[in-house]
Amino acid sequence: MLKPKVEKILNEQIEKEGYSFFLYLSMASWAESKGMSGIAQWLYAQSEEEKMHMLKFVSYINERGGKAVLPAIKQAPGEWKDVFVMFDEVLKHEQYISESINKIVETAIKENDFATNNWLQWFVTEQVEEESSVQQVIDKLNMLGKASIYLFDKDIMSLRTPAN
Ligand code: FEO
Repeated sequence: MLKPKVEKILNEQIEKEGYSFFLYLSMASWAESKGMSGIAQWLYAQSEEEKMHMLKFVSYINERGGKAVLPAIKQAPGEWKDVFVMFDEVLKHEQYISESINKIVETAIKENDFATNNWLQWFVTEQVEEESSVQQVIDKLNMLGKASIYLFDKDIMSLRTPAN
């Protein structure tokens, strides 16, 4: 049986995972509408993972004799300046989620709920992987950004109309 403090904080995580699901879905849709189908696919896959995370919390709370409460989920943004800004937001969001998982672990330990602590370790590992995978995307984008400027630098003079 879950203790009330543990049940409450686990329920709060349903909203956070649900928001992650909609945030990445919104990003996927934005990328798709801009013709970036590969990035859209990456984000659609990411959003599916978040839905799975949310469902894991729902099932776990119910399985342990609690009651999962499905929350209202706030509106996710729908526009980004560019993909650099968008992926920075993904990384910041994942760091926020990692902090949130850590707080649940802390609560479970304080409440002597070792089963929940044990169950949460999957999420602890998952967050390390997710942060690292987004960081890799950002690193590659930054490298490509520099390469694009290098290529443009070689090309810019060709844009001048010759002086008469
Ligand atoms: Fe479920 Fe990426 O946090």
